[in-house]
Amino acid sequence: MAYGDAMGYVPFREAIAEYLGASRGVRCDASQILVTTGSQLALQLSAQVLLDPKDRVWMEEPGYPGAHQAFITAAAQMIPVPVDHDGMDVANIIGRNRVARAVYVTPSHQYPMGVTMSATRRMLLLNWAARSGAWIIEDDYDSEYRFGSRPIAALQGMDTDGRVIYIGTFSKVLFPALRLGYMVVPKDLVPAFSAARDAADIFSSTLYQAVLTDFIREGHFARHIRRMRMLYMERRSALVNAIRLQMEEMLEVVGAEAGMHLVALLPPGIDDLAVSRKAGRNGVSAMPLSTCYAKRPNRGGLILGYGGANVRQIHAGIRKLRMSVQDQVA
Ligand SMILES: Cc1ncc(COP(=O)(O)O)c(C=O)c1O
Repeated sequence: MAYGDAMGYVPFREAIAEYLGASRGVRCDASQILVTTGSQLALQLSAQVLLDPKDRVWMEEPGYPGAHQAFITAAAQMIPVPVDHDGMDVANIIGRNRVARAVYVTPSHQYPMGVTMSATRRMLLLNWAARSGAWIIEDDYDSEYRFGSRPIAALQGMDTDGRVIYIGTFSKVLFPALRLGYMVVPKDLVPAFSAARDAADIFSSTLYQAVLTDFIREGHFARHIRRMRMLYMERRSALVNAIRLQMEEMLEVVGAEAGMHLVALLPPGIDDLAVSRKAGRNGVSAMPLSTCYAKRPNRGGLILGYGGANVRQIHAGIRKLRMSVQDQVA
């Protein structure tokens, strides 16, 4: 019931370090684990500790608005770098000799487009960071849920120069209301991150950390992941099928190989914000893809989450979404 360690509850940090080593190829020990209030605090602390005003940060385009929100508080200058089927186009930006203090990436499962960063680009990025003394902020938010292919090891495990700040969360693998996440901090940065956390909100609730430690240690966590993988695979197929049956001429599905969301591109010229608003009024939550872009995209789309809806709800939701898009086309 007393105050706890700013870095987190030690048994919990040990359990996380073990899990990351075995499942994600992350190389760390418990002393490098900082328990956070979800990834958002990890992003916020990274901004605060690593960035000065006007520092440049390469951002995936399209990318995660939560990261943008965090880095803006440090008055950083964000440089959008296009994402293609191999992830962020690292060669292009390095080739143009653009300096940066940090880069934010989601290499295992790019948010929102769902692609995986190629091995060549991972090596390029790590070499660039080592050469230029820049930081790589790796957000590994939902890597547990890959269907078909094996999970891809984290960038952090390939880093030999201590340039990667690795961020994970229990929001996707368990549920967001827990507000528990973690970061793996290079050893020399531990005192700075620990002090920043202490100044922010001292530490995360020990009760939740202790309960989750037992949940992991007693094997429930691994069982939960196995069970949910099957369930999400079923829901993903239901969503892809429902789109194919009811909206094939209106939506083009991309990035459905992993995670709990996919992107459905709208026909050119359709305003995704208007479709999203209309869908919301019809009772369907569909985030507009354009909100993930710094510049206006050529084509709008919808980010469709399927983790929280059963097969019947998914089919009913797509019927409502069809009406929302039809209204916009008409
Ligand atoms: C790219 C990305 N990172 C992190 C998160 C999770 O954020 P948090 O751990 O703060 O709930 C999400 C959730 O949607 C996400 O899409």
